[in-house]
Formats: sequence, structure tokens, C-alpha cells
Amino acid sequence: MRGPCPGLNTLAFHGYLPRNEIVTPTQIINAVQNGFGMDDTLAVQLAYATMLVDGNPLMNLMSIGGKSSLTGPDPPKPAIVGGVDTHAVLEGDASMTRGDVFFAFLTFYIYMATEYRFYRIQQSVAENSTFSFISPRIVTAYGEAAAPFVFFVDGRKADGQLSIENALGFFRDGIMSDDFHRADGLKTFHLVDNSVDAISLKTT
Ligand code: HEM
Repeated sequence: MRGPCPGLNTLAFHGYLPRNEIVTPTQIINAVQNGFGMDDTLAVQLAYATMLVDGNPLMNLMSIGGKSSLTGPDPPKPAIVGGVDTHAVLEGDASMTRGDVFFAFLTFYIYMATEYRFYRIQQSVAENSTFSFISPRIVTAYGEAAAPFVFFVDGRKADGQLSIENALGFFRDGIMSDDFHRADGLKTFHLVDNSVDAISLKTT
């Protein structure tokens, strides 16, 4: 089952996460550390925040795709247990690559992430009468705009630019391209957050 997140899909494709996409927080922590070099704090926060909003905390299981019976009997409401693709929680409007704009995204986004994040929001405001952009989606949408530059750029690329080949691999195919090398060093929350600040300052 394929979910909305190119990071998690790729980790499942390569066996860092179970291929049926039903995962525990510990599996997410190990996967984002081994696959992408996140530090402990960022990995733990991501894994448990996701469990709280989209997972089944009683079973310690969550789906990184859609709702699934494999996460066990649902706890009572207000628990959602809908999986990572539950609309308006983490998944949401103004996605950068899903929808109609994949190839426009590639050319535009790789060179102009800040403007592109802003453009997708403005486009949804204009075209989607039910457009919703509230927390937590509004927070994660900026993190997602920053993530490719932190995690999807080959560590040997001195210019830090995301190549078309790697962008297509992660976003379109959910795979690390042949010979992809993760960048050295631990990626912290602050590293991602600095990029988020740069993107949101330009667009608010
Ligand atoms: C617990 C961990 C994670 C969760 C729950 C999660 C969840 C999601 C969700 C729900 C979306 C779709 C948002 C939308 O509607 O557009 C998304 C998008 C995205 N995620 Fe993740 N993600 C996680 C980890 C990661 C990691 C480790 C990476 C990269 C290393 C990553 C990179 C991205 C990117 C670049 C997008 C933007 C896709 C787009 O706009 O088309 N995520 N994530």
C-alpha cells in the first residue's frame, strides 16, 4: 500500500519499513535514522507525533498508507486511527506533487522551493472552494518543502542541489536511485527548521 509521503514510501520500498506499510514507532525511528540520518530527537518526535494523530496507540501500530484493519481494533473516538493519508491531519490540501502538477513541480520546485510553496497555496485558494490549511497540516507542509533539500540530495553533491534523477526517484517512484548516497552527519530538527524559516519568511 502506497501512502502520500515520498520519504516513507521509499523507506518501505527499500525494506527499512515493512512492505505492507503497517509500522510501529520504533520501526519509523530506525528507518528514518538508517535511511536518512535523522538524529534521535527528530526521529522520536516524528514517530510518536504520527502515532498520536493517525495511529492506534493501544496496539502500537500505524499505517503509513490508508486506514487498515491490520492496526487492530480501533480505540473509541476521538481516536482517528485513519493512517497517514487521513485528510486534513498530516495529509492535506496544497500538496506539492500530488494532484495535477507533477511535472510543473519538478522544474519549478527544484530551483525555486520558496516561491513554489507559496504558489501551491495561492493556487489552492483560487481553485479549491473547500481549501483548508490549518494545523498540523500548515506546519508539516513547510517541513515537506524543506525536506527534499535536507534528505533527498546525494551526499556527494558539493552544490547541494537536488538532481532531477533523485527527485523523480523519490517523488514519482518512491525509490532511492541506484547509487544514491545519504548525506553524512545527523540531521536535526533545527536543520530542517532553518530551511522552514527561510521558506515561510518569504511566503507570509
Ligand atoms: C513519521 C514520519 C513521517 C510522516 C508521518 C509523514 C507524513 C507525510 C504526509 C501525510 C505527507 C503528505 C502531505 C500532503 O498532503 O501533501 C507527506 C509529504 C511529504 N513527506 Fe513525509 N512523513 C514522514 C517522514 C518523512 C521523511 C523521513 C521524509 C524525507 C526524508 C519526508 C518527506 C516528505 C516530502 C518531501 C513530502 C511532500 C510531498 C508532496 O508535497 O508532494 N517525510 N509526509
